[in-house]
Amino acid sequence: MQNRDVIVALDFPTLSETLSFLDAFPAGEKPFVKIGMELFYAEGPACVKALKERGHRIFLDLKLHDIPNTVKRAMNVLSRLDVDMVNLHAAGAGEMMRGALEGLTRPDGTRPLLIAVTQLTSTDAQALKNELLIDVPMEETVLSYAANAAKNGLDGVVCSPLEAKAVKARCGETFLTVTPGIRFAGGEVGDQKRVMTPEKAAHNGSDYIVVGRPITQADDPVAAWNRARREFLGL
Ligand code: C5P
Repeated sequence: MQNRDVIVALDFPTLSETLSFLDAFPAGEKPFVKIGMELFYAEGPACVKALKERGHRIFLDLKLHDIPNTVKRAMNVLSRLDVDMVNLHAAGAGEMMRGALEGLTRPDGTRPLLIAVTQLTSTDAQALKNELLIDVPMEETVLSYAANAAKNGLDGVVCSPLEAKAVKARCGETFLTVTPGIRFAGGEVGDQKRVMTPEKAAHNGSDYIVVGRPITQADDPVAAWNRARREFLGL
């Protein structure tokens, strides 16, 4: 699988809206896409199948977090959907992560990439301290969660692009960083608290940037996708 790309977050409520969004892309241009909870809960595995048939690579962003046995069994089901990347919450800890890897590995030994969510990019320092009762600074939590994910055999983490460089320094260059919270220079920030442009994310060591509204809500989504790829991949 090609490393480094823009992943388009398909945060749409239905498959038909998703397909009309994707229909705007020229034939042969197949964005790497992310299916999140909204679309998956609405349309189920059928939407994964439909997008696979159209030739898209898929990050299935369901952020699993449960007891190890439940996650292992759920991952086993997801392994049969032929997606390219799935994820879980690192907060579920090591035994859950190892169970997930076991469940995800197909009989032939292949499996989708398994990525851990560290802290959501919408969580700020105040929420971390006052609501989650985590007293160490944000970056220390993220790095510690990332190191634990690496130690337990995961392929990378979802993190803020602001943390990507430090994650690589702690976990190694080949440990993947998948970074949402991306905004074009001068764009709307919305509910994201810690944001970065595609170009800066690239300089900071992001392997994949996840871009939702700056592409899906753009007047010209295809132009926005091309801009994101140009800026991120330096095309
Ligand atoms: O629209 P926007 O570019 O903010 O979308 C970002 C996408 O990345 C959303 O689908 C969101 O659920 C996801 N995400 C995130 N922060 C994380 C993990 C996933 O924003 N830590």
